[in-house]
Amino acid sequence: MRVVIAGGHGKIALELTRLLDERGDQVRSLIRNPDHAEEVRSAGALEAIVCDLEESDEDRVSEAVGEADVIVFAAGAGPGSGPERKETMDYGGVVKLLAAADHNAIPRFAVISSMGADAGHEGDETFDVYLRAKGRADDAVRESGLGYLIVRPGGLTDDPPTGRVEADRRVERGQVPRADVAAVIATLLRDPAPERTIEVVSGDVPIEGLAGHLAGRA
Ligand SMILES: NC(=O)c1ccc[n+]([C@@H]2O[C@H](COP(=O)([O-])OP(=O)(O)OC[C@H]3O[C@@H](n4cnc5c(N)ncnc54)[C@H](OP(=O)(O)O)[C@@H]3O)[C@@H](O)[C@H]2O)c1
Repeated sequence: MRVVIAGGHGKIALELTRLLDERGDQVRSLIRNPDHAEEVRSAGALEAIVCDLEESDEDRVSEAVGEADVIVFAAGAGPGSGPERKETMDYGGVVKLLAAADHNAIPRFAVISSMGADAGHEGDETFDVYLRAKGRADDAVRESGLGYLIVRPGGLTDDPPTGRVEADRRVERGQVPRADVAAVIATLLRDPAPERTIEVVSGDVPIEGLAGHLAGRA
């Protein structure tokens, strides 16, 4: 499988790159800082392409994405950013990548969203703006006509992977190691199931059997 990971130097992205490379998938990593190229290649990316998703127009993003079977959006403006970048990165980045998928005939799109993402979320704090931006991005993915996987983790930790999660349309709030989120995405990218939006926190379900667990539920 040819996978483009946008935000390829992110923490989940690097874990995902390792997992995909280990099983023989081909990863093209989009990064914004050329100094990160060596690190993403060491993680297993075949290519590291410099493309700032906020600075680049749709043509440039389409060129950077190239041919692929699926795009994974693993980027994010990050906790230190203000409301403007929730719009330009967390929402706008997804919109540009959806245009690239359309332009380059890429059939599938996966996005790391967030538990609580909701286009109708109310409030004026930066975190409220973030949840609205993530919700609008998820809506754009669902309305794109592409096959999609929307993963909405709870609070992310850098704890070691457990290999187990709770995942469903809705789950109780909680935390989850980034490495387990990466494993969930890697597993579900292989699942030819229909479109899915799932919340993910730590739990008891083995990630390797997650597709079967979700069948008929989400
Ligand atoms: N923190 C939480 O508890 C939490 C909970 C639920 C969901 N999430 C979401 O989970 C996702 C991944 O989390 P993570 O911790 O793995 O992320 P991360 O380590 O912060 O990585 C985000 C990546 O996005 C890249 N990026 C930022 N602006 C960019 C731009 N303009 N163009 C291209 N790339 C850009 C960053 O590049 P640089 O490496 O150059 O900085 C970074 O590599 C994010 O979407 C986040 O919103 C977070």
